[in-house]
Amino acid sequence: MKETIVVFGSKGQLGQEIQELAPLYENHYSFYYRDLPEVDITNAPAVEQLCDEINPQIIINAAAYTQVDLAESEPEKAYAVNGFALKHLSQLCEKKKYFPSSHLYRLCF
Ligand SMILES: NC(=O)c1ccc[n+]([C@@H]2O[C@H](COP(=O)([O-])OP(=O)(O)OC[C@H]3O[C@@H](n4cnc5c(N)ncnc54)[C@H](OP(=O)(O)O)[C@@H]3O)[C@@H](O)[C@H]2O)c1
Repeated sequence: MKETIVVFGSKGQLGQEIQELAPLYENHYSFYYRDLPEVDITNAPAVEQLCDEINPQIIINAAAYTQVDLAESEPEKAYAVNGFALKHLSQLCEKKKYFPSSHLYRLCF
C-alpha cells in the first residue's frame, strides 16, 4: 500500500525539485503539495486540520522564510515561519507519533 506524503512550501525551489523527482517514487508514495496561500505553516490549527484530512505518513517541510535581507526588518515573520511553525510541526509530529528531523517528519504506526 502506498504511503502518503504532504509537502509544505511546494512552490519554492526545494518544493519544485521534490515535485520533479516525485514521479520516480509514485509506485510507493502519493504526494500532496501545499503552499501559500492555501496552507500557511504558521497556522497550526490549519496544518493539523489538513493532516487530519490527508492522513499523511510523511510530512516534508520545504516552507521557509528565505528573504535574508528582510529578516532583520521583519524578525517576527522570520521567527514565525522558521522557528515557531517548526515547533508546532514538531508538536504535531509528537502528537501523531511522527519522528521529526530537520525537514522531514514521518508518522510511525
Ligand atoms: N534551495 C536549496 O538548494 C535548498 C537546499 C537544502 C535545503 N534547503 C532548505 O529548504 C527550505 C526551502 O528553501 P527554498 O530554497 O526552496 O526556499 P524558497 O524557494 O524561498 O521556497 C520557500 C517556499 O515556502 C513558502 N512559504 C513561505 N512562508 C510560508 C508559510 N508561512 N507557509 C507555507 N509556505 C510558506 C514560500 O512561499 P512565498 O514564495 O509565497 O513566500 C516558498 O514557496 C529552506 O529551509 C532551505 O534552507 C534549500
